[in-house]
Amino acid sequence: MQAKLNNKEIIVKDNKDVLDINQIKADFPILNQPINNHRLVYLDNAATTQKPKSVIDAQNEFYLTINANIHRGLHTLAEKATNAYEKTREHVAQFIGGVKTEEIIFTNGTTEAINMVAYTWGEKNINEGDEIVITEMEHHANLVPWVMLAKKKKALLKRIPVTPSGYLDLSNIDKIITSKTKLLAVTHMSNVLGTINPIAELAQLAHDKGAIILGDGAQAVPHLPVDVKELGVDFYAFSAHKMLGPTGVGVLYGKKELLETMPPFNMGGEMIDTVTFDNITWAELPHKFEAGTPNIAGVVAFDETLHYLEKIGMENIRQHEITLLDYALKQLTQIDGLEIQGPLEVTNRGGAISFTDPKIHPHDISTFLDSRGIAIRAGHHCAQPLMKILQKVATARASLYIYNDRNDIDALVEALKKMRKYFGV
Ligand code: ALA
Repeated sequence: MQAKLNNKEIIVKDNKDVLDINQIKADFPILNQPINNHRLVYLDNAATTQKPKSVIDAQNEFYLTINANIHRGLHTLAEKATNAYEKTREHVAQFIGGVKTEEIIFTNGTTEAINMVAYTWGEKNINEGDEIVITEMEHHANLVPWVMLAKKKKALLKRIPVTPSGYLDLSNIDKIITSKTKLLAVTHMSNVLGTINPIAELAQLAHDKGAIILGDGAQAVPHLPVDVKELGVDFYAFSAHKMLGPTGVGVLYGKKELLETMPPFNMGGEMIDTVTFDNITWAELPHKFEAGTPNIAGVVAFDETLHYLEKIGMENIRQHEITLLDYALKQLTQIDGLEIQGPLEVTNRGGAISFTDPKIHPHDISTFLDSRGIAIRAGHHCAQPLMKILQKVATARASLYIYNDRNDIDALVEALKKMRKYFGV
């Protein structure tokens, strides 16, 4: 099977994995820990991922040998800390397709990155009668800020519907994205359905109408090779913790010409140029958007995270997930009555697999699986409007990453089968 992703051929291999999973598993100390007397099968990667020892070591090393504040001290450690922090910025800029370093803003996560755009670009550019377009498959981080901005500005919030098979329904897109549209905010990969959305096509549609596009890459950057220039996005947000990095570190990519026109978000130290009691001028990009002391150790360790991912190769990671997803979907669809949400075509989706059992509540599924060492997420996945559309109060969700293998899927499938006997249904 072949499909195109970012213009590169992806091949679904039937039996062979491109990664040496046993070697990868050995890099993650937490996976050696038994949970409820069972081998840990970690399948909650869409919520957060585990960290390789090299990333944990990089963060510890920073505190052990470098720790100092950045961009202000003149002593040796301050200079080392600043250099290490800025080295990560350069690395991130390369990792997402070779953008300018001043187009990379460090935030505390995807949510803060999207809020930054809503509160700065949005406050400045959205007016009464304007239209903001989102999709029905957004998680709250890319939904709540736009609902609130639209309310405040008396703008109209429109949404691209989701088809029953979990794709965006673009059949009426001309009526949804119009000359009144100012912003299209869309997830690159759904955290519930797994769907990979056609961001480049949507960017073209938005730009044709004079609108800009924000891509939510929280679920995409960890799993696919991403080039923001190829995608054509104006803003793009993602989090380190969903890609083997530390919590509390996120990235907002923004086109320089847009960031330059935007007012700052948080006010305080390091984001200013000159300050008097009457007047303040802002620092240059990217510092204008990075007030106060950031998560320095986290950002420094994020550099090692990117090295780790690059060593394995993003193409290989995508290939591995396609192969494993194919295996998982084949097994799960054989469990009688189990309902799987989202596309079943593996080349159009990532490894977040939401499912429901006709007789057992997702919370009970999760608790039962946990008793066997299997970690999944159950609930609304921070996507309540999508749950309503799917007519579910909640789903169970198993989500894959580089350290998962067929044994993990087998453990999940076997436990799901046993679960029914246990609950007597
Ligand atoms: N958005 C994250 C998830 O899907 C928290 O679990």
